[in-house]
This record gives sequence, structure tokens and C-alpha cells, in this order.
Amino acid sequence: MTVKIFDTPEVQDFLNTVAGFDQAGGSERAKRIVHRLLADLYRLIDDFDVTPEEFWATIGLMNELGKGSQFGLLAPGLGFDHYLDMRMDAEDEARGLAGGTPRTIEGPLYVAGAPEAEGVARMDDGSDTDSEVMWLTGQVRDTDGRPVAGARVEIWHANAKGGYSHFDPSQSEYNLRRTIITDAEGRYRARSIIPSGYGVPEGSPTDRVLKALGRHGQRPAHIHYFISAPGHKHLTTQINLAGDPYTWDDFAFATREELLVEGRLIDDAAEAEARGLEGPFTEVVFDIELSRTEAPELQSRHKRPRALEQAAD
Ligand SMILES: [Fe+2]
Repeated sequence: MTVKIFDTPEVQDFLNTVAGFDQAGGSERAKRIVHRLLADLYRLIDDFDVTPEEFWATIGLMNELGKGSQFGLLAPGLGFDHYLDMRMDAEDEARGLAGGTPRTIEGPLYVAGAPEAEGVARMDDGSDTDSEVMWLTGQVRDTDGRPVAGARVEIWHANAKGGYSHFDPSQSEYNLRRTIITDAEGRYRARSIIPSGYGVPEGSPTDRVLKALGRHGQRPAHIHYFISAPGHKHLTTQINLAGDPYTWDDFAFATREELLVEGRLIDDAAEAEARGLEGPFTEVVFDIELSRTEAPELQSRHKRPRALEQAAD
């Protein structure tokens, strides 16, 4: 039986009470946001004739998402991370700070406090001898093309099975996570292994939400970056390794044309030796352009819960 009660004075008064409008304490902003959120949901329940069974199944699902710390995984799947990026892009545009390498989503798998190195680092712990060796390098410049020496380039990526150290207990601490400080020419260099794409855990609450939408939870192979330097806008981004079947079908919507990088297989002993490597390797080059800004709040990453962040800062 379909009934419509949302627009009745009783429901509207009830919403005002629930949102605390008649209370002196609390936060005005919280009250207004909660009022709007509840009004939208109440109206949705009316419009779609949501049954008690559907409502309580959703509460159960949210409890499971929370128990598995999966809201950080579902959020990009529902486009929130990309939507916030679109808003920050628009803000940059409005401030005259557009340009430079584009941002894209951070994802939930950063861990603070990775070892720091000057100019060059080895990111893998050497335990995975079957994976392709990756030589990851690039130059950090400003938007006028001047090299940025002393920039902090934080890099993290998955292993060949799609797992991230810290979250995957089979890996050593900070495996495939490093902070590299650029040299006098703004260059960074890293030896690592080619990462694999990955998917949300099969059967997990996030997977169930995506399946209900007829979607998958796969991501293409990618490498995450934070780049910062005094006088420059902090950049959160990631690159995608070209040729992955999910490049343009990323469940987290992180792919951007400018961030697609083609690895180059180099099978030349002299080239390998010049980088301290043995045998063939894949070179991945990612140059980064940072916009200049004097605003301190734009020079560091925004706050959010991150693994070990408080312990490290
Ligand atoms: Fe990732």
C-alpha cells in the first residue's frame, strides 16, 4: 500500500525536533546538515515506498561495513572521492590555481611514516623474486618548468598480488612505501616491482553494494603519490599503468588521461647497470608539475583518518 506522509505538518515538525532545532545546544551546522539529510531520506522512503525489511537490511549492511572498516572502500566506489576531487578542481579554478599535474583520489590505504631517502630508494623488500622489476622515476617541476629540489615525493603501491603492506599481514613493514626527497634537479628515482590491480574482497559488504548496482569492484594497476614542497600546492595523485583492462573501468573512478603512464621494457645490460639493476626491467617515468602558492593551508594534505598518521606526525 502506497502512502505519502512526508509533506504533512506532523512529519515536518517531527523532523525539526529530530534535528534538534528546538534545542539551544549543539552545532548549528550539524543541525542543518542532519535536517537536510534526514529530510532527503524520509522523502526517499515515502517516494520508493521503502519497506521495514529493506530499511533494516540496510542498517545491517551499514553495521557490517563499519565492522570491516569498509566505508573508506565503499566511498570511492560510490564516487564520493572523485566528486570531492571535482569540487577541489573547481575551487582551484576559481582561485586561479588550475594547471599542473591533476589530482586524483587518495584511497584508504596510505600509511604514514614510511622510510625517507634522498634522491633514490628501493621500495620493495626483495622477497618477491618473480615480479617484474620497476624503475620509477621523474622530475618535479613548477608550472613554469623550473625543477623543484627538496620536494617530498611519497609513493605507495600494491604488490603483484594487489595487496598493500600494513593491511596485508604477509608483507614486511613499509614494503612498497617510501618517501623520496628530490635532488638538486628535482628528480626522484625508485627501484620497485610492477604492481597489480586489485578488487574489493569478494562477498564483502562493499562488493554486495556494487553487485546490487550491476557493477564490479576492480581497480587497474596504479601507483599512489603525495607530492609537497614549500611554496607549492600539495598534490595527491596516482598514475595508472597503461594496458590494464580496467584502465577506463576503475570502480573508484580515479583514472585521468594525463595520469596514464606507459611502462617501457628495457632489456639492455648497460642500461640496467647504470641503475644498479640486473637483467630486464620496466621503466615508468612520471614527471610532476606543481602549482605555486603561498597559502600555507594549500601546501599540505587535508586531514582525514590515515593509518599511523598520529604516531608519525
Ligand atoms: Fe591503491
